Amino acid sequence: MSLALDKPRSPKRPAARRGNGELYSWLFMRLSGLLLVVLVLGHLFIMNILDGGVHKINFGFVAGRWASPFWQFWDLAMLWLAQIHGGNGVRTVINDYARKDSTRFWLKMLLYVSMVLIIALGTFVIFTFDPNISN
Ligand code: HEM
Repeated sequence: MSLALDKPRSPKRPAARRGNGELYSWLFMRLSGLLLVVLVLGHLFIMNILDGGVHKINFGFVAGRWASPFWQFWDLAMLWLAQIHGGNGVRTVINDYARKDSTRFWLKMLLYVSMVLIIALGTFVIFTFDPNISN
């Protein structure tokens, strides 16, 4: 008589062949989360509370900030980390909830394409922004 039980929800590929990707992804969520606390709260404080709050934000204010490589780098780090952190989080949600292999595949493709497009567009804008709109 066999006492072996089925393994419910067991992965299709055995753990030994799956590598450490999910471990690094888990670690990345924690580390990027910590960095985002500083970047996002700092951003909210500067944009919405300091010096008259949100009413001071206009083209000139943004142009002034992006004249400094420090704020360019701040915004670049926030863009990349929020996009990769958020995207990796949504990847986990898709893996957890999509029932069909094809649904899971296409949702993740849509996610990855949108991540690449937003990171590329945002990075392009930060580095090519020209405060002189008259030419
Ligand atoms: C304030 C800074 C943030 C911190 C400290 C933080 C922290 C975390 C941590 C630790 C996880 C992993 C949860 C788990 O594995 O159980 C997570 C998941 C996630 N985060 Fe963040 N995060 C922050 C900002 C953001 C931002 C800005 C976005 C969106 C752009 C975002 C979107 C997500 C998503 C979609 C998940 C997956 C949720 C899930 O697995 O159910 N987070 N976050």
